[in-house]
Amino acid sequence: MKKKIVVAITGASGSIYAQQLLQQLQHLQSQIADVGVVMSNNAKQVWEFELGNETYKDFPFKFYDKHDFMAPFASGSARYDTMVVIPCSMGTMGRIAGGISDDLITRAADVILKERRRLILVARDTPLNLIQIRNMQTVTEAGGVICPAVPSFYSLPKTVEEVAMTVVNRVIDLIGLEQDTYRWSEN
Ligand SMILES: Cc1cc2nc3c(=O)[nH]c(=O)nc-3n(C[C@H](O)[C@H](O)[C@H](O)COP(=O)(O)O)c2cc1C
Repeated sequence: MKKKIVVAITGASGSIYAQQLLQQLQHLQSQIADVGVVMSNNAKQVWEFELGNETYKDFPFKFYDKHDFMAPFASGSARYDTMVVIPCSMGTMGRIAGGISDDLITRAADVILKERRRLILVARDTPLNLIQIRNMQTVTEAGGVICPAVPSFYSLPKTVEEVAMTVVNRVIDLIGLEQDTYRWSEN
């Protein structure tokens, strides 16, 4: 079955992760039925600051307004399989953990959890306070996956892009898409 995927981008540091995930989803389109994208206001600002461009406008996916509750994935009946929040701010994670579905990102996350489908939060902040740790626990207990934006180095990445891809590759594995990537003990 081809996947229907929601990508939500928030205003945590790490816009490069969102950029790389959208690029990879383009390459993996044969396995995908639909990608819907929604960005917070802060996500656009942080992307422009960190990456120095507005290339999120160039991806061939449908982008939804943050307040568009008419978007398909605002309802469980549309049967989206997976939602990735990348990067996921502590604010958005807290709203998801609290069930405060006051915009499309938090509503879509609420829907994915209630439908018992896969929610992946690429949470980014450091250090963490107890409220954030408890929110991670709450989302995990509700069935979500906290996939911290913590890169690995055992593949010996050489560039910032390669470092960031170590996170994005794990996200793609969690979505359940087949990909050609570095795997410990296989390469
Ligand atoms: C350059 C920049 C970097 C930020 N990095 C983080 C971060 O790593 N984690 C985080 O939780 N918030 C971070 N913030 C703050 C969030 O953008 C802010 O809390 C915002 O309200 C989140 O809203 P959103 O989740 O709707 O995007 C950052 C803000 C800026 C301007």
